[in-house]
Amino acid sequence: MRKIWLDTDPGFDDWFAMLLLACNRDVEWLGTSVVAGNAPLDITLANALAIKHHYGLTTPLYAGCAQPLLGKRETAQGVLGVMGMRTTGEPLPAVEAAAPSPEHGVDMLIDTIRRHPGELSVLAIGPLTNIATAFIRDPSLATQLRELLLMGGSTGRGNHTPAAEFNIYADPEAAAVVFNSGVPLRMFGLNVCDQLLLTQREVGRVQQIANAAGTPQARWFAGYLDAYQRIRNRDGTVPMPLFDPIVPAYLRWPQLFKFMSARVDIELRGTFTRGMTVCNLRLPAGTAGNAEVALQVDGDSAMTLLLDEVARLLV
Ligand code: RIB
Ligand code: CA
Repeated sequence: MRKIWLDTDPGFDDWFAMLLLACNRDVEWLGTSVVAGNAPLDITLANALAIKHHYGLTTPLYAGCAQPLLGKRETAQGVLGVMGMRTTGEPLPAVEAAAPSPEHGVDMLIDTIRRHPGELSVLAIGPLTNIATAFIRDPSLATQLRELLLMGGSTGRGNHTPAAEFNIYADPEAAAVVFNSGVPLRMFGLNVCDQLLLTQREVGRVQQIANAAGTPQARWFAGYLDAYQRIRNRDGTVPMPLFDPIVPAYLRWPQLFKFMSARVDIELRGTFTRGMTVCNLRLPAGTAGNAEVALQVDGDSAMTLLLDEVARLLV
C-alpha cells in the first residue's frame, strides 16, 4: 500500500484528482495540505472542505501557505472565476460548520515525512510553496521522501504565460527550491497533459453517466466537465487537457507513461520567461538529472480508464 500526501489548490481539476485518489484502494492517503493557487487560500481551503464534506473523505485536511515565497500572489481567477472552480452545474455549496484541522499544513507534512522515512509519496498539484517551505525548514526531508509527483511545468509551452505553467509561475522561487533539493521527482508537465485530452465525446459520455446517476454530485461533475470545455471556447470543440488528474492516473496505471531523466531549472529573472521550466533532455550519458520528466502517455487508454472510474464514482 503506497503512503501518500496531497498538496493541492482546489481548483477545478484538483477536485477530479481528489476523487480519483479517494477511490484508489492501493494508496493510504495520510493527509492533505491546501495552498493558495487557483484562488486565494481562504477560497481553495473552502473548496477543499466542501469536496471533503460532500464526498465523505476522511483524510485530515490542513491549511498551508497563503503567499508565495517571494513576490505578489498570482491566481487563476481571471480564467476560472472567483471560486477557481467555474462550473455550469451547481457549485459546491459552502460547508459552514467544516473547518480544517488546527495544525499548519507545512508542520503536518514535515511530521508525516519524519514518521514514514522513505515511504511517503507527495502529490503536488498546486504551487510548490508548502513543499518548499518544508524543505527550507529541514533540507534533509527532501531525501526522506519516496518521491514527489508534480503536476507542473512543461517541456514546451506555458499556459499562464506563453513560457510558464501556472503552478510554477505562481511561486517560481518555491519551484527552484524543490527542483534543487535532491528530492526524487517525477514531473508531469503540460507537454504530457496535452496527450490526455477531454473532448466533447468524453464530456458527452460523462453527462450520459451523470444524468443516469442523477445524483447532485453527478450534476456537479457533469457541470464541471461542461465548464471545463467552456474555459477555452464557447462551443466545446477544442479538446481540453486534463491537468491534475494525470498524477492519480499515473499512480493507478504507471504502465501507460514514459519518462526521461532531465535537468530542469526554473527561470526566475526572465522578463517574459519567469516561471519557465528549462528542461535539458539531452544529458550526457551517465549524467543524472534532477527529475524524471513524463514525455508520453497512452492518452486514449488513460481517458477510457478514467471515465470508467467516473462511471463507478457517479453511480
Ligand atoms: O496549469 C495547471 C495547474 O494549475 C493545475 O494544477 C490547475 O489546478 C492549476 O493549479
Ligand atoms: Ca491544481
